[in-house]
Amino acid sequence: MLVLAIETSCDETAVAVYDSQRGLVAHRLYSQVALHAAFGGVVPELASRDHVRKLLPLMEAALADAGLTQDQLDGVAYTAGPGLIGALLVGAAVARSYAFARGLPAVGVHHLEGHLLAPMLEADPPLYPFVALLVSGGHTLLAQVEGLGRYQILGSTLDDAAGEAFDKTAKAMGLPYPGGPALAVLAESGRSDRFDFPRPMLDRPGLDFSFSGLKTAVVTTLRQLQQGGIILDEQTRADVASSFQQAVVETLAAKCVRALKQTGTRTLVVAGGVGANRVLRARLTAMGTQLGFTVRYPRPEFCTDNAAMIAYVGCQRLMAGEQDDLSIRAVARWPMDSLKAPEMKIVSSI
Ligand code: KG4
Ligand code: ZN
Repeated sequence: MLVLAIETSCDETAVAVYDSQRGLVAHRLYSQVALHAAFGGVVPELASRDHVRKLLPLMEAALADAGLTQDQLDGVAYTAGPGLIGALLVGAAVARSYAFARGLPAVGVHHLEGHLLAPMLEADPPLYPFVALLVSGGHTLLAQVEGLGRYQILGSTLDDAAGEAFDKTAKAMGLPYPGGPALAVLAESGRSDRFDFPRPMLDRPGLDFSFSGLKTAVVTTLRQLQQGGIILDEQTRADVASSFQQAVVETLAAKCVRALKQTGTRTLVVAGGVGANRVLRARLTAMGTQLGFTVRYPRPEFCTDNAAMIAYVGCQRLMAGEQDDLSIRAVARWPMDSLKAPEMKIVSSI
């Protein structure tokens, strides 16, 4: 089955083509990061308008990359939520209408399900079951993944997502947008043990996270340093960044180990934009070697938003016989635990 997929849930316009036999055959992405940089964050209306401008040419380019014509497609998948509603509506309207016009089945995919299953795009995919840590700008959660649509949420953030904490802290430190990667770069030349920032919720049982207090601790420290007459030179700023990053990394790593122990699972999958963080990767890999679990990551470009992960999930669901009615489905909020495994439809032929 050949599936064309569209992702427009936030500030990336992405299109991919996935073949159930050959795997991923093409993927294209246009990032709006430069468009939103001047505003220090994503401006939803500008995001929607830019998706309108970029989507159709990107679909043509992805098909050309794949060496395919439209007639060869068997289905269409699109991100139906969660995300920015205007941005989602662009992708959903184009995908659903395109499928209707071409007489193809369409399926709306959950964006986080895409992130969770992104490692399945790799040549050596992890085997089910695994524990997944999803750390993005909008979400932070731990889930036990038993198979397609079979997820048990083990814990999630009670306030800010890990990426959001990176972005807000970076903004408070005057770093350029997007803040997370910029903070990680600054942290490279800093000392991680100079400031003792809190490791939120580690002293409590359970697998939930809370990151908003950590950002406040950084802001308070910066203020105290300035009031104490300490010049915020580049080294001090790097030390703050590194100490903050260390607090996030240690908190995430400790909860991952807890989740693996609780579920008796030996494979950890890390997905979402913060999964690109090098210190987090190094820490988890070292803990895996020490404690006897394997850590798997999607390749960095599939850690952040992309259509390849939507194409993979869409293809699996369409192959299982799932397809949407003719409505254009876009939902800003869509709880992940409402997802279900597709019911296998047995098609009999005489
Ligand atoms: O998954 P993603 O592309 O978008 C969402 O669906 O949210 O994740 C983006 C988030 C942003 O908050 C960004 O600052 C963060 O991932 N991020 C990083 C790094 N690269 C991206 N955070 C820390 N270190 C990085 N290297
Ligand atoms: Zn995402």
